[in-house]
Amino acid sequence: MKIVEINCKKELNVDSDTAWWNQWDHEHFSVAHEGFKQAQVFYEDKNCAVVYLEITLPIISFFKMGSLHFMVQKDEENMLSFSNFLGCPSVTHITIRETRKEFCEFNMNYKFLLSGWKIILAPIIKFLAPKWNERSWQEDLPLKQRRFFMKKKNFIDFKGISNDKIINNKILFKLPLRKINDSKVYEYLNKYFKNHKNY
Ligand SMILES: [Fe+2]
Repeated sequence: MKIVEINCKKELNVDSDTAWWNQWDHEHFSVAHEGFKQAQVFYEDKNCAVVYLEITLPIISFFKMGSLHFMVQKDEENMLSFSNFLGCPSVTHITIRETRKEFCEFNMNYKFLLSGWKIILAPIIKFLAPKWNERSWQEDLPLKQRRFFMKKKNFIDFKGISNDKIINNKILFKLPLRKINDSKVYEYLNKYFKNHKNY
């Protein structure tokens, strides 16, 4: 068994509320990210979600793979995501800390567990994972900035601009994020799991 570990660190002028919203907004995956062709929510509740993702990789973008992601919000600064990459289990640990007002530090730790012949994938993963991280970061950047800009204008989802000036100081991030019932990410649930509300 070989563990490939990759650490990425970033900083951004947004509050943690906005940063976490972006992590849990499943709807933007297939729209904003070149690497995600499909995102389908299979389950979600107050601190976790199971999402089916179809992924294409940088450089070898013709190669599409599907995988189930289990995401859990451990506490207000830590999130874990369990998935697999080319059949290898992977664990992603994301820490987001608002180190000063409206300024966040992001630490992303990726672990890939390789066994048997898959150990030969180690150099490929070491090469691709930072590229994947950088591309995703750049694609998420305008979303986070726009969301934060609108939050400062007192924008509330499904309501619009509020006249309540207190809203700026409120924590709006609450799982699961509100979506319309026929959201694209519920397509599988609505089509194939008609009784999903009884899970
Ligand atoms: Fe994203």
